[in-house]
Amino acid sequence: MELKKVIDRVYWLLDKRRTLVTLSAYGEKSVYGEKIFNFGGKIYREWVPYRSKFSAAFYKGLNGVDIKDSYKVLYLGASSGTTVSHVSDIVGTNGQVFAVEIAEEMAVNLILLAEERNNIFPIVDDARKPENYKIDIPMCDLLYQDVAQRDQTDIFIKNSDLFLKSGKIGIFAIKTRSIDVSTDPKEVVRNEIRKLRGKFDILREINLYPYQKDHSLLILRKK
Ligand SMILES: C[S@@+](CC[C@H](N)C(=O)[O-])C[C@H]1O[C@@H](n2cnc3c(N)ncnc32)[C@H](O)[C@@H]1O
Repeated sequence: MELKKVIDRVYWLLDKRRTLVTLSAYGEKSVYGEKIFNFGGKIYREWVPYRSKFSAAFYKGLNGVDIKDSYKVLYLGASSGTTVSHVSDIVGTNGQVFAVEIAEEMAVNLILLAEERNNIFPIVDDARKPENYKIDIPMCDLLYQDVAQRDQTDIFIKNSDLFLKSGKIGIFAIKTRSIDVSTDPKEVVRNEIRKLRGKFDILREINLYPYQKDHSLLILRKK
């Protein structure tokens, strides 16, 4: 077995196949059933591409993105915290992940996760109304969004206006079927990109098939 660095705290574990892992910042507990590896005296957690769009993007060729130790991240659509837990590994114990989730039943697990990982700050609220949580969140180094809503681009722009430092990265999972089921997904993504161009440079668009259906991940830089 061998480790190949992708970005800080994210590696390919190379064996018979390649497995994406994050260096755990909080011990050896599995968060969502992912495999745990003990390698060279350190604990690594498998980052499963079928469970996390961010992971799927690495499997589809993403090889670098500006996220690292001590970063402050605003994460919209945190659900029960699957991807949030890996972002928490990457920014480490000096970083902060502000995790917004609207559904109380999902937020229950997120809150439990935050009790074990004190760099996660759960916020049970609607990402359409960032003014509700404005007081709790500083300007951030990364905005990640995965909310699967028809108005997802408006939500992304609103939150970025309030919380993302200029020159920093936004990662935006677009679920094309949530926006329009009848239009060709490529056309849907093109239309959403058009809305984003005024405020962001579009760095990458990654189609996440076959790990995630009907999804693209946009990597954007705020102007
Ligand atoms: C596809 S899931 C997110 C999965 C998660 N990002 C992960 O990788 O572990 C989408 C989540 O967004 C949440 N959501 C939808 N609309 C929202 C909104 N307006 N504000 C906050 N969360 C929202 C849903 O409740 C759901 O849990």
